[in-house]
Amino acid sequence: MNVPLYEKLWMWAAGVLIVAFLAMIAVGVAGSALQPPSHVETIDPTKIWNDPRFVRRGVTLDEHGATVVVVGMMFAFMPAEIRVPAGRRVTFRVTSADVTHGFQIVGTNGNTMIVPGYVSQFTTVFREPGEYLIVCNEYCGLGHHLMSAKLIVEEARP
Ligand code: CUA
Repeated sequence: MNVPLYEKLWMWAAGVLIVAFLAMIAVGVAGSALQPPSHVETIDPTKIWNDPRFVRRGVTLDEHGATVVVVGMMFAFMPAEIRVPAGRRVTFRVTSADVTHGFQIVGTNGNTMIVPGYVSQFTTVFREPGEYLIVCNEYCGLGHHLMSAKLIVEEARP
């Protein structure tokens, strides 16, 4: 089969682009530890204050690290101050009491949407102790810019 030179070049260029796109996904997953949303857990948003999964909000420590249960609502996070140990696995479980919010831990890879009716969950490790700002990054109403919380990563005690 006789394929003209230009057609060959374009075919190779398309092949290189496909490899480049796949490599970008691989770098995102392996290099930056980004996780695609894969945890599908539903919740009745009108009943979260009585739901056993969200009755006790805040940090629970265990031998692997910590679990943090958070409710986002117009225009605050509950709790507004979260303390977790550095260098340990921290699993966040977040849901919304009203509309769609965001939950972004600035300067880290912790970032998820909070959609009413669903529990968003992700696990990450904070290597650097310090104070981190948590912001809502989905426009949720007039007080959107006020919606924030504080994450304090503490040096792990031996
Ligand atoms: Cu909550 Cu913007």
